[in-house]
Amino acid sequence: MNEVIGKPLNRVDGPAKVTGKARYAADHPHPDLLHGHLVGAAIPRGKILSVDTTEALAQPGVVEIFTHENVSRLAIFDRSYKDQLAPEGHPLRPLQDTQIYFSGQPVALVVAVSIEAARHAAALVRFDYDREDHRMDLERQRPEAEDSGDAPEPRGDVDTALLHSEHAIHQLYETPPEHHNAMEPFASTVILEPDGTYTVYEKTQGVQNCHKYLKKVFSLGDREVKVLAPFVGGAFGSALRPGAQLYLAMLAAVHLQRSVRVVLERKEMFTLGFRPPAIHTLRLGASAAGKLEALCHDSLAATSSFEKFHRPIVEWSAGLYACDNVRTLQEIAPLDTNTPCDMRAPGAAEGNFPIESAMDELAWEAGLDPLDFRLANYAEKDPESGKPYSSKALRECYRLGGERIGWSQRSRACRANREGTTLKGMGMATGSWDAMQMPASARAVLRPDGTLVVSSATADIGTGTYTIMTQIAAGELGLPEERVTFLLGDSTLPMAPVQGGSFTAASVGSAVLKACGKVKRKLVKLAQGLGDSPFDSIDKEEIRLEDGHVVAGDIRMPIPEVLRRAKSKGITCKSLAIPQLLKRRKVTCKTHSAVFAEVSVDADFGTVHVTRVVCAVAAGRILNPKTARSQIIGGVVWGIGMALHEESYLDPESGRFINHDFAGYHIPVNADIGEIEVIFVEEEDEVVNPLGVKGVGEIGIVGTPAAIANAIFHATGKRVRSLPITPDKLL
Ligand code: MOS
Repeated sequence: MNEVIGKPLNRVDGPAKVTGKARYAADHPHPDLLHGHLVGAAIPRGKILSVDTTEALAQPGVVEIFTHENVSRLAIFDRSYKDQLAPEGHPLRPLQDTQIYFSGQPVALVVAVSIEAARHAAALVRFDYDREDHRMDLERQRPEAEDSGDAPEPRGDVDTALLHSEHAIHQLYETPPEHHNAMEPFASTVILEPDGTYTVYEKTQGVQNCHKYLKKVFSLGDREVKVLAPFVGGAFGSALRPGAQLYLAMLAAVHLQRSVRVVLERKEMFTLGFRPPAIHTLRLGASAAGKLEALCHDSLAATSSFEKFHRPIVEWSAGLYACDNVRTLQEIAPLDTNTPCDMRAPGAAEGNFPIESAMDELAWEAGLDPLDFRLANYAEKDPESGKPYSSKALRECYRLGGERIGWSQRSRACRANREGTTLKGMGMATGSWDAMQMPASARAVLRPDGTLVVSSATADIGTGTYTIMTQIAAGELGLPEERVTFLLGDSTLPMAPVQGGSFTAASVGSAVLKACGKVKRKLVKLAQGLGDSPFDSIDKEEIRLEDGHVVAGDIRMPIPEVLRRAKSKGITCKSLAIPQLLKRRKVTCKTHSAVFAEVSVDADFGTVHVTRVVCAVAAGRILNPKTARSQIIGGVVWGIGMALHEESYLDPESGRFINHDFAGYHIPVNADIGEIEVIFVEEEDEVVNPLGVKGVGEIGIVGTPAAIANAIFHATGKRVRSLPITPDKLL
């Protein structure tokens, strides 16, 4: 386990996925399953006056209809309870009262013998509402804004610095609401077992978060319910918190004493969490020589009326460059929508677009090359805390990325590269994300036949967790990967955090490494204590594990033989890995990237094609360059979507996200994607964690939208400051 870039092992879960053997939350069969269908509120804000379920209940196949009228009496929701990622406020408690916070809020669950019967009856449940005025426009909510507490301490004197700056810009940027749209919709299958316990197949990034939630809300004992999510078809933050479908499916199962499934339709996914819209004001100033002298980033982002969701948006700007005078402000204001939630690189993706657009604008203003301008203001140490970085190979990212795309050959002027009606341009941006680590645990079981089973209650939302954990375990114990099985997505397994924040490789990986290290030491000890052992006079430092054998010099003994001769039934070790806080406290741990984009713009139609993206990433050790590359490509594709396509449109009248399908909510398709090249810059880091990994889940999207917007400016001379950059904005 000491090479900086690991082996490109194929996904160990790949065959199960492509042959359909992998079962997702709604795939688990059960002979006696009931189906639930949601009814969503038709108004964005107000109260339910009455509900009439008579006609719906009379439909063939309908078993029960849950509404606030029968559920609130069941009074099972502990009002003090919050899930692991709940912001300040109170989580949504569907069917508990008559209050409507947002359009589409679940107000009833129809349970029937088939999906069709449930869906049909759901259309016949009648609600009367008392509608109140609703708030849909973030700018108009400014008077209600409050400080989110995310902005770092100011440094220097921004106002004076701005006054004396030779070059300055002052601009407004907008980032829209966006929805995740993972392939797998939200789904819960609650199986009532013969012994009265519940097995829940859930689409989630955190089986234990869901388990705790169900235990608390339904007053269940630890073993009365378990939550399983062995496969997750994408989630990207949308499945970090227990969703309404889980609560409702469980509610129906508990009260009907039946097995129940609830699956959301695509349009219902648009009533859930989303990336909150934000409005940003940027003011930058630079000296004649191109030294960044002042930086101001103020943002206003949306939250809901019942929870104060926020993620750092402006902090990224404050920490990106060496600059003596920095002031940021981050505010939130409520809209009458569901609570926003994490969406890939939450805060950073939307915060990076304005700062990296503004940096480009200032470079042009000052007549500087945008890359040279960034290099001239490179932060050698964390500009906020003054601490050194645990490692930072961003300079290498700039160099290698720039070389690959051919940055130095681009035209110095904008709108200078024209072929017929096609305008070509090139742009770049810097990206950053935190290299986090959470406490996590793992168990490793070395069996008498020399195979190893390692487990932890983490998730693989498509990121490659199964594969990299297999590699870490195999590497530590010198086993071929085929002899290692990694288990996850089961709430009964050793404690793990939700899969998010790009911290799974560091957190769970460290636990796997530690548990396997313990197994290794025990195995070596067994080998030394065999009595007639060839290893007993050999120092333990000389003994290593290799290809399923215990090895010292030219002595090689297969692991099963060691275990058999030691009369061992196998070795089981469990470990908890926690961040090395004493070491980490002295440094700043961040992932960095340099993103370069090349675009073609049709001058007549304003259509943009991103012909090339080069994303150079410094993320510590890359455990598996194949799965890691896929993560970055996924992030870049999403960055292209963010730059050009994605926007959830909040209709002011209905208060609903009205483009709630793929006809209206555009995401990039194959034809939208040109060449994407990923470069992993070698970065050794012994401080960040014992594995030296920083995580690659989020960094791919950060920087990509700004690099594209900057390329569009280079191509067309037009600066678009509100995403997405649709053709109308370029005409
Ligand atoms: Mo991700 S937004 O950390 O699931």
